[in-house]
Amino acid sequence: MKLETSLTKALGCRYPIIQTAMGWVATPELVAASVDSGAFGFLAAAVMQPAECDQAIRDIKTKTSAPFGVNLHSFQAGVEQIVDSCIEHKVAALSYGRAPSPKIIEKVKGEGIRCVPTIGAAKHAKKAVALGADILVCQGQEGGGHTGETPTWLLLSQVLELDLGVPVVACGGFKDGRGLAAALAYGADGIAMGTRFLLTSDSPTPLQTKEAYLKSVVTNIPVSTKLDGLPQRMIMNERLRSLESSGRIGMLVRALVNAWRFKQHMDVSMLDLVRSGIAMARDTDMTLGQTIMAANAPMIIQQAMVQGSPQDGVLPSGQVAGLIDDLPSCTELIERIVSEAELSLLNIGAMTRGETEHAI
Ligand SMILES: Cc1cc2nc3c(=O)[nH]c(=O)nc-3n(C[C@H](O)[C@H](O)[C@H](O)COP(=O)(O)O)c2cc1C
Repeated sequence: MKLETSLTKALGCRYPIIQTAMGWVATPELVAASVDSGAFGFLAAAVMQPAECDQAIRDIKTKTSAPFGVNLHSFQAGVEQIVDSCIEHKVAALSYGRAPSPKIIEKVKGEGIRCVPTIGAAKHAKKAVALGADILVCQGQEGGGHTGETPTWLLLSQVLELDLGVPVVACGGFKDGRGLAAALAYGADGIAMGTRFLLTSDSPTPLQTKEAYLKSVVTNIPVSTKLDGLPQRMIMNERLRSLESSGRIGMLVRALVNAWRFKQHMDVSMLDLVRSGIAMARDTDMTLGQTIMAANAPMIIQQAMVQGSPQDGVLPSGQVAGLIDDLPSCTELIERIVSEAELSLLNIGAMTRGETEHAI
C-alpha cells in the first residue's frame, strides 16, 4: 500500500509523517535518522546561533541526501543569516510558530522553500495561509512544548472545515500507526510528532532524561506559564513544582539567582540574558520576574535536555510521553507506524465490505 498524500508530494518524503523541531533534541543526528527512515525532519534552529545552524545544516547534508527542513523563530537573534543559510543550502522547508515574519516568508518562498507554520488555534489558520503557508501543522493542546487550548481532533476539525486549499497535518498526541490511519481517515494529509521522536535511540537526549520521560504518566504533564510566560507543556518534577509555587517576588528572586548561577557557568552576560527574555516575552504580559525567568528558560531546559539532570531542569513534553515505553530507532519506529497504519486502513476497507466487524 502507498501512503502517498499531498504532504509527501509537497515535501518529497516517503511517508506522511513529520518529525517536528525540538530545541536541543532535533539535532543533525535525529534529523538525518528521521529523514532516512522516510519521514520529513526539521532541524531545531530556533535555539541556535547562525554559525551553529549553518554547520548543523552542513552536518545533515553529510549524513543524508534526503530533503529536510529548518525551524526558526522570526524574532531570534541572527535570523536573517539563518534564512540565508537555508537558501544557500537549498533546504526543502522552513517551519515557524508565533509572530511569523512576512518578509522572511516572501524571501524563502521566492527560493522554492516550503513554508510550514504550526498553529495552535483555528483563528490563526487563515492568516497563516494568507501570509504564504504551503502546509499547516495544527498542534492540539496535548502537544509538547508551547501549546494552545484546543484539543488536537477539535482543532483539526475546525481547520479542515475552513478548506484553505493547503495540506493539513495533525499534531499533538501521536505515536503510532493507528493515530496516522485515524488522522488520514479524518481528512488530514499526515501527522507530525515531537515527543515520539525524542523517545528514540537516535535522539541525542541523555538516557537519564529519556528515562524520566518514559516514567511519566499522562495526567502529570501539565501546562504551565511559569517557565517563560507562555503556556508550555512539561513533565511535572521538583523544578516545575517550585516554579509553580512562586509568587511575584519569589519569581523575581528565583529568576535573579538562576540568572546569576548560569552566568557563572556560561559565556553569556546578564544583559544578553535579559535581552533574550524580553524578545521571547514581546507579545506577552509578563512581570519582571517572569521576563528574567524567560531569559533563563533555555539554560533551565538544557539542564535536563543536554546536561542530563532531569531533576534540575524542566522537561518539555507532549502528554503522549505517558503512553510511550520504549526507545526504538527512527527506522524501527517509522516501519512500525507505517505497517500499523496500513493494517488499520485495510481493516477499515474490509469492514466497509462486511468482511470483518472490527477495524483494528
Ligand atoms: C522537548 C521539546 C522541545 C520543543 N522545542 C520546540 C522548538 O524549538 N520549536 C518549535 O517550534 N516547537 C518545539 N516543540 C514542539 C514540537 O515541535 C511539537 O510541535 C510538539 O512536540 C508536538 O506534540 P507531541 O509531542 O505530542 O508530538 C518542542 C517540543 C518538545 C517536546
